[in-house]
Amino acid sequence: MTQENRPILVTGGAGFIGSNFVLDWFALEPSPVINLDKLTYAGNPLTLSSLEGNPGYTFVHGDICDGDLVANLLTKYRPRAIVHFAAESHVDRSILGPEAFLKTNIDGTFTLLRAAQAYYQTLEGVEKEGFRFHHVSTDEVFGTLKPEDPAFHEETPYAPNSPYAASKAASDHLVRAWHHTYGLPTLMTNCSNNYGPYHFPEKLIPLMITHALEGKPLPVYGDGLQVRDWLYVKDHCSAIRTVLAKGTVGETYNVGGCNQRTNLEVVNLLCELLDELVPESKFRPHKQLIQFVTDRPGHDRRYAIDARKIERELGWKPAESFDTGLRKTVKWYLSNTAWVEGVTSGAYKQWIEKNYGSRKAEQ
Ligand code: NAD
Ligand code: TYD
Repeated sequence: MTQENRPILVTGGAGFIGSNFVLDWFALEPSPVINLDKLTYAGNPLTLSSLEGNPGYTFVHGDICDGDLVANLLTKYRPRAIVHFAAESHVDRSILGPEAFLKTNIDGTFTLLRAAQAYYQTLEGVEKEGFRFHHVSTDEVFGTLKPEDPAFHEETPYAPNSPYAASKAASDHLVRAWHHTYGLPTLMTNCSNNYGPYHFPEKLIPLMITHALEGKPLPVYGDGLQVRDWLYVKDHCSAIRTVLAKGTVGETYNVGGCNQRTNLEVVNLLCELLDELVPESKFRPHKQLIQFVTDRPGHDRRYAIDARKIERELGWKPAESFDTGLRKTVKWYLSNTAWVEGVTSGAYKQWIEKNYGSRKAEQ
């Protein structure tokens, strides 16, 4: 078997970015995928139902904190790479319940690193030379920017502000240490906010689309002038494939879309797109649904990514602009109502009540 045809082990492949990554991988790459996912509220096997029966796809329902399971999977499938997406990923949930974030994001990454290192020691020749541990991380580890500050670059000091960001920062440090101390061939990407198909409707963009379609209030935290740098999810997936194929071992790469927008701008754009694409809606103009609510505690004011290193060294650039990506995303949600209904039943309703029930409407 050639190195390219050997499998990769993906963790968290049933989540938002992981599932887009796995679907794109099968469209573009020759090698099989083993997908290890715990199927928390954020993991949805339905997203990958098109891969059922595909001999190259293996789904394993399990926890990255289970060291024996991870070790057995590595011995059995002998992957050429681990692409590590699995995480608790929502800042608001990390504020209301940080325990799961420390467990999965820190302990889970530690467990994976330890198992990966033991497996790496058993490899020889081209198999050893080609092995990679790719850690998928976030720009939130860098903290918050003032309006005039330059964008985050790879040397920006870490200054995480939320329990989510702190747990991701800890995992990044562990990955770095495993490379420096034990020689594990790691790669790392720190990406800005993603949006696109299969995004769980607890995050800003899918929440606003699904609420607007039902005529529910669109809850904008604080003054809505916080800035995020948005990247279409398929561009993040192409960046990961590029780094996996060509990245320098031990390096980190910042990934972003050069799309800084305030939350209010994003919500207004979504409302305009929905006015246009759903002309029969009785909730038009959708902007009337916008409601300012109590801000998130410790809310980071601005994120922005300087992605020049990955462009200069590896030739990666995003394919979508914010306008084309957002239009595709809204159309996707309009055509995939069964997926949305599937993920917004029972437990989702409890989350909405928990997160928004006690937020006051502000004016
Ligand atoms: P997500 O919450 O949509 O999906 C996470 C997936 O991990 C789910 O399928 C879940 O079931 C699985 N999972 C959680 N705990 C697990 C465990 N203990 N064992 C095995 N599987 C587990 O997250 P996402 O938005 O797809 O993010 C994926 C990765 O990308 C995360 O590491 C996140 O920090 C990073 N990231 C996300 C963004 C973004 O905008 N969403 C931006 C930059 C980086
Ligand atoms: P989110 O999608 O949770 O991503 P992150 O916190 O990781 O950046 O939120 C994006 C921005 O939108 C963030 O500034 C918080 C804000 N936001 C709202 O104003 N209202 C909401 O209901 C949500 C979920 C987020």
